[in-house]
Amino acid sequence: MSILSTVTTLPTPAGRPRLLITRPLLPAALAHAARLFDLSVWREDLPIGHCLLDQVQGHQALLVMPTERLDAACLQGLPATVRAIATHSVGHDHIDLDAATHLGLPVFHTPDVLTDAVAETAMFLLLAAARQTTHAEQVLRSHGWGPWTPTSFLGRQLTGLRLGIYGMGRIGQALAARARSFGMVIHYHNRSPLAHAQAQGATFHATLNALMAASDAFCVCAPSTPGTRGSVNRERLAGLPPGALFVNVARGDLVDEPALLDAIASGHIGAAGLDVYASEPRIDPRWHTLPRTTLLPHIGSATETARLGMSMLAIDALAAYLLRNERPANCLNPTTMASHG
Ligand code: DGY
Repeated sequence: MSILSTVTTLPTPAGRPRLLITRPLLPAALAHAARLFDLSVWREDLPIGHCLLDQVQGHQALLVMPTERLDAACLQGLPATVRAIATHSVGHDHIDLDAATHLGLPVFHTPDVLTDAVAETAMFLLLAAARQTTHAEQVLRSHGWGPWTPTSFLGRQLTGLRLGIYGMGRIGQALAARARSFGMVIHYHNRSPLAHAQAQGATFHATLNALMAASDAFCVCAPSTPGTRGSVNRERLAGLPPGALFVNVARGDLVDEPALLDAIASGHIGAAGLDVYASEPRIDPRWHTLPRTTLLPHIGSATETARLGMSMLAIDALAAYLLRNERPANCLNPTTMASHG
């Protein structure tokens, strides 16, 4: 094993493609990658950032995290050796797909394997917001727990509430399945209605305004795209029923965050549970003291099962494409693979 200044290169049989991974993965995933590739791993505390272009020299494949911003300039600066990219995420808003496609670079992502983990996080945040468990726990931990009274720590019961899901893809549908078992009534907004069998009786709203007006609890599950960014704006937040619960497990940039902070502070939003923010990890300081919120540091997919699944899916896609001339289904820009092999 040779140790470069910032990158660990693991030994593999000669002649394999070289893969740079921008964060250490779970040991089983690294071992799997090392069986297939000549592997380099960025092991510094800080994200690889502008060092990426230096470190990727001589590599054929790149596995990045959502913290790496692969904009057009970065993609154009990649050495000609790089033939494929994978991201350790289902979201791909950090990668300029048009630029990658223009350069003929396939980009693979990691759908499905994290669906349950993220849906569980959304369900947890809904429950935490409804019962304001963060506040209750803070009272207990600060020795403030007084005598039991019939009126203390009152929250809302999820049973019978209308849950508005913005983005009824894999994660939205998995959340709907969980929320139904809590007696919630599912409403959703998508680009188009789901087929009858998939909708499972959920009510489709053709506009986001209509969905939000019909949501006692509202959860953002849609991907971040030019069309969705900023879509949960001040006017739409004002259209939520007073006291609504608000959850976001998708991306912070879908929401006008100052407007969200104001709506929670004013009490118009009764309670919120967030896993994602407009700027991460340095979040708006108002979050630190805002009551009636449960705040997680983007841990939606953070289970061993999901993270291992994500690593394996990304590694296997790169291997299938580069070693076996296959066209993996989790490619975001499959036209780049058309002339391959
Ligand atoms: C994703 O996969 O997009 C998640 O947000 C990263 O955990």
